Amino acid sequence: MYFHKYTKYTEKCAYLLYGGEKQQYELLCADSMVWLKNQKNKSLKNVVTGIPDFAEVKSSKIPDIKSYVKWFNQIAELIMLSIQPNGYCIFIQTDRKLSGKQNPPNYKFEWISKSNLLMNCAKKNKFRLIWHKIASYRPIADTYIRPGYSHMLCFTKNGLHDVESKFPDVIDSPTKLYPNGTPYEALQITMDFIKKYYKSTNNDDLFPYDIVDPFIGQGTVGVVALSKGFSIFGIDIDPEQVKKTENNLANAI
Ligand SMILES: C[S@@+](CC[C@H](N)C(=O)[O-])C[C@H]1O[C@@H](n2cnc3c(N)ncnc32)[C@H](O)[C@@H]1O
Repeated sequence: MYFHKYTKYTEKCAYLLYGGEKQQYELLCADSMVWLKNQKNKSLKNVVTGIPDFAEVKSSKIPDIKSYVKWFNQIAELIMLSIQPNGYCIFIQTDRKLSGKQNPPNYKFEWISKSNLLMNCAKKNKFRLIWHKIASYRPIADTYIRPGYSHMLCFTKNGLHDVESKFPDVIDSPTKLYPNGTPYEALQITMDFIKKYYKSTNNDDLFPYDIVDPFIGQGTVGVVALSKGFSIFGIDIDPEQVKKTENNLANAI
């Protein structure tokens, strides 16, 4: 099922993994639905990702909004089931009005509240919402087809947090490293949060990477994770994206 695998070993290793060197990052070209289904429950440390929009899901099995919502819910649940109790899952989601697969003049306007879907999933799986922020990268009124902001939601089962974890509700985040990329400044705050609060348990079953992004795209989450000293495991179904990310991550370390 996994048709490409890119692995990078570096000398910047603080401790030992895989027989001698710490792997700072690994990229896999695969369908994340399949990968997540194959993970043990509670084996991932932290997930930071944006579940793709309707137009970005590369599967003929998702022809309409109804099947997209079902797929979105399934992915969100698989992520939550895969996270260890002390870990965090942070979603950065943009709600689009355009259903995506139609072009003008056949626009079909739909508005899916992905935050609402995530909240329902969290409730079902007994996860707590730690914070919900807005990352703003364009003037807020500019929302004709694609809003100029993204929602950021952080969930955990038993992870720590305290009043000091507070940061502004709206984060000015003008930088995108890549087209359609995740807002950069907001990700920096996200990684600082994980750095401060994440406490791993001594559990040999844990997947070794600090951060997993199952929809890595061109790798903004990976670039920021590496810059903050985390190791990152990224997955993307599109081999072209994986190749670009490989370059972007190599340049980031
Ligand atoms: C919006 S991009 C992510 C952008 C990324 N956060 C960045 O900053 O570069 C969404 C990605 O999800 C990938 N994708 C879509 N369906 C997927 C699936 N089933 N499994 C893995 N990746 C998938 C797409 O190829 C696309 O690169």
